[in-house]
Order: sequence, then structure tokens, then C-alpha cells
Amino acid sequence: MPESVRSLALTVNGVPIAVQPGTTVAAAVLMAGAPTRISVTGEPRAPLCGMGICFECRVTIDGVPHQRSCQILCRSGMQVRTAPSEPAANPAREFAP
Ligand code: FES
Repeated sequence: MPESVRSLALTVNGVPIAVQPGTTVAAAVLMAGAPTRISVTGEPRAPLCGMGICFECRVTIDGVPHQRSCQILCRSGMQVRTAPSEPAANPAREFAP
């Protein structure tokens, strides 16, 4: 079977990745080693429930934000963006005891 039929090519934060058909975007993001988002307190988050309930797996897919990556299968050419790898400065932490 040709490679193009066996795998799908997409990008996660601009990095090319190949997955098998039927792979969720959440799995592709985990394969890429990226957190799905950064919490308001600056903690990296990852998929938790895997069934569309917790919203911890939200990513931007093809420019559409807040997509639950555990509920969406990868498509060839898909562009997935997750939270920045480094959390933004959190002023609330600066005042924590
Ligand atoms: S992992 Fe919980 S909604 Fe996707």
C-alpha cells in the first residue's frame, strides 16, 4: 500500500507530522509533544476525558479556535495550533506567597 494512503500529513504548530487514518487530533498533538493549551494560572494542559466533556484538549484547527481535539479526526493538510510552548507571564503568580 502506498505511503500516501497509509498515513495523513498535517502540521502541529508548523511541524509536519504523519498519522494513521482514524487518529484524533488530540493524539496527533500528543505525538508532537505539545500541550493543548495553557491554563489561566500558566499550567500546561492536555486531554483529560477523551470524550468531549472537559474541554482541556482545545486547539485551533485551520484557524478555528477552541476545537475539542479529542472529537476530531485528523485530515490531510490540517493545520493545528496549540497553546504557546512557553506560558505567558502571569502577574497573579508574582503576588503569590
Ligand atoms: S479531552 Fe476532554 S473534551 Fe477533549
